Amino acid sequence: MAQLWGGRFTKETDRLVYNFNASISFDRKFYRQDIEGSIAHVKMLGKQGILSNVEAEQIVAELKNILAETENGTLEITSEYEDIHSFVEAELIRRLGDTGKKLHTGRSRNDQVALDMRMYTRMEAVRTDALLKDLLQTILTIMKAHTETIMPGFTHLQKAQPVTLAHHLGAYFEMFKRDRLRIHDIYKRMNYCPLGSGALAGTTYPLDRDATARMLGFDGPCLNSMDGVSDRDYVIEFLSALSTIMMHLSRFSEEIIIWNSNEYQFVEIDDGYSTGSSIMPQKKNPDIAELVRGKTGRVYGALISLLTTMKGIPLAYNKDMQEDKELAFDAMDTVKGCLALFQGMLATMKFRVENMRKSASLGFTNATDAADYLVNHGVPFRDAHGIVGRLVLYCMDRNRSIEELSLEELKAISPVFDSDLYDAISMETCVNKRLTTGAPGKAAMEQVIALEEKFLAECADIDEDWEDRLLNGNIK
Ligand code: ARG
Repeated sequence: MAQLWGGRFTKETDRLVYNFNASISFDRKFYRQDIEGSIAHVKMLGKQGILSNVEAEQIVAELKNILAETENGTLEITSEYEDIHSFVEAELIRRLGDTGKKLHTGRSRNDQVALDMRMYTRMEAVRTDALLKDLLQTILTIMKAHTETIMPGFTHLQKAQPVTLAHHLGAYFEMFKRDRLRIHDIYKRMNYCPLGSGALAGTTYPLDRDATARMLGFDGPCLNSMDGVSDRDYVIEFLSALSTIMMHLSRFSEEIIIWNSNEYQFVEIDDGYSTGSSIMPQKKNPDIAELVRGKTGRVYGALISLLTTMKGIPLAYNKDMQEDKELAFDAMDTVKGCLALFQGMLATMKFRVENMRKSASLGFTNATDAADYLVNHGVPFRDAHGIVGRLVLYCMDRNRSIEELSLEELKAISPVFDSDLYDAISMETCVNKRLTTGAPGKAAMEQVIALEEKFLAECADIDEDWEDRLLNGNIK
């Protein structure tokens, strides 16, 4: 048991208490952010003359060694320390003696952990955004190949009107696009630096908070030190964005499970993304899609958990906040895993276009267009609706589709029907006449695809800036 705060205590901490309190088993995850934060802090202390330049340089050099050794596995983070902050500081003191003891000048673990969590969450936001970008690219590739692939569109899971596969997937493009925009937006609010907030009330040392914020890639320092140490809104916002991503992935998974079923056979999930049964030799199950759907629950759980943890906490830091990490980390890792696997499953999935088309042509998906035909020939819509309703009943009794009826049969139901009806209610006409913005008609769809491509291109600047930060670290 190694602690930073033994001075005013007269007893050893009980082992159970120590374990209950310790966070190193999970906050070790942000060792890199912790060390980078310390490097920025010490560089600033040197520049401000709070530490001598020699001391600052020594500490920075040794922190860099600790980072490199932790990264290459030669230095092991051991659970003998209470948290990652204690581990790094103790290691520094072990190497530098008294100079190492100056690291924590003008800083508290409260602003330190607030900084680490913010930088870690920021990095995860960037990573999640990159995975969303890959998924969007995969969706767009499929959309471009399938602007003429007709399939039934559903409401109430009942066949409604024909659409195309491009159009159906275009709905998911919009959802995941909003997910990216949400992350970009959250990032702007989260990107302020709590370092220098101290325990809660700032510090008497002449810290340059703008300098540390800049060094660590923030847009500026947080403007209230009590808020700086106790704000976890950015985690909550990110968990909320992650929950929404999971909700979208889960809906998409549900559709893929349905499309992949024996009854539908709209898609075939690649063998690499399917699993078998231990007893039924014929089975090929969509486990990946089911797991993505299932894991949605734990991500929602993380959001609700943190909202609940935060709701009763008086200002400023309270230990409750240590609970911001485990479930949030789990949610972040879960969503990244789901995005990556889902993208792979989608990219390798076969679309059975013949089955989709056949399904669209059964189930009267062109009934609205038959009614519109009558309207175009002067019949008021409500009357047209009734006539086509009777037409559908007539067909159902005979197990035929509208276009399979003879002109005489059609005319017996309404004399307005003529031979041009067949063309007017073909699947192709039904789809391609729908040309309002956002509709499935090929020309309308191509315009939207061009806009979606533009969106991806416009994000390229953000992508580059963010990738640079991920690859080269936060310290510039
Ligand atoms: N492990 C703590 C956390 O995650 C670090 C901050 C500790 N601060 C304190 N005053 N006990 O929140």
